[in-house]
Amino acid sequence: MTEPLLKVTNLKKSFPIHGGLLGRQVGEVKAVNDISFFINKGETLGLVGESGCGKSTTGRMLLRLLEPTEGQIFFEGQDLTKLSNSDMRKMRKEIQMVFQDPFASLNPRHTVEKILEEPLIVHGVKDKAARKKRVKELLETVGLNSYHGKRYPHQFSGGQRQRIGIARALAVHPKLIVADEPVSALDVSIQAQVLNLMQDLQKEFGLTYLFIAHDLGVVRHISDRVGVMYLGHIVELADSETLYESPKHPYTEALLSAVPIPDVDYQKERIILQGDVPSPANPPAGCPFHARCPKVMEQCASIRPEFKEVEPGHYAACHLYE
Ligand SMILES: Nc1ncnc2c1ncn2[C@@H]1O[C@H](COP(=O)(O)OP(=O)(O)OP(=O)(O)O)[C@@H](O)[C@H]1O
Ligand SMILES: [Mg+2]
Repeated sequence: MTEPLLKVTNLKKSFPIHGGLLGRQVGEVKAVNDISFFINKGETLGLVGESGCGKSTTGRMLLRLLEPTEGQIFFEGQDLTKLSNSDMRKMRKEIQMVFQDPFASLNPRHTVEKILEEPLIVHGVKDKAARKKRVKELLETVGLNSYHGKRYPHQFSGGQRQRIGIARALAVHPKLIVADEPVSALDVSIQAQVLNLMQDLQKEFGLTYLFIAHDLGVVRHISDRVGVMYLGHIVELADSETLYESPKHPYTEALLSAVPIPDVDYQKERIILQGDVPSPANPPAGCPFHARCPKVMEQCASIRPEFKEVEPGHYAACHLYE
């Protein structure tokens, strides 16, 4: 077995909650609460879950745009959490991010050319002619024309803007791309085009993706494996086919029952979950899902189920499988 490109162990992130007149810390939000996973080279890991479950926090920690509270992030065997800030800046050449809202993440006052040139300058491409050539190449790579370089972000459609966001991420030849809901803001018809582009680029450049989405439908075709998050935890992770055809965790079953996914047999009766997602500032004891779980058992309220391999390559955190 070769070593995974990325391996995350026991990663946690808490945000302090300040309150009162003196602004003292009165609590903490456990946004990511002890997650572990790996991504092999050339693979796509999908990460799904409802709003607020900790997906973006996870993605941002991988680039150390947010500092982890605890845990390790190994990239090609090297623990990123141990790097100095300047070594981490260099490392960002290898790990790039594509954001949900390309409009918010592209500087409106800069031409596309300038936007794409910036990462090249940051990562030490000193020769101006070489940068110009690379910008032209990047535009073509994502299906735009070189004359688009003279335009500003507002002159593009949403799908084109996301192509620019992808071009910017590719500029310095990264190995891993963290794509945080890259198609969620786009029309359904445009989503497929951008997903196809990302798949083509992956093949062409041997890229590895962490692909974050709300919805199990979006990640199905692009992901080799999928992890399901709930309240800061990964509750289930398996290869895509297994996860969609025979989910183990009751939360995954509920998510799957809520979205119609073409050519998936697992289309059971719709499971309506009771109650709301608990607050990550005050997470329940035991299993984070127990208060809403249709299959809840006695121990679920007090004992946290371990995230473990229940079948080869299939991980779940649920007392049903102990
Ligand atoms: N800077 C911050 N300060 C305090 N709390 C935060 C901060 N960033 C995120 N959180 C909280 O951490 C939790 C996880 O947020 P995160 O953005 O990672 O979720 P998400 O799964 O990406 O959600 P969405 O689907 O809405 O993008 C949420 O409860 C959120 O309110
Ligand atoms: Mg998010």
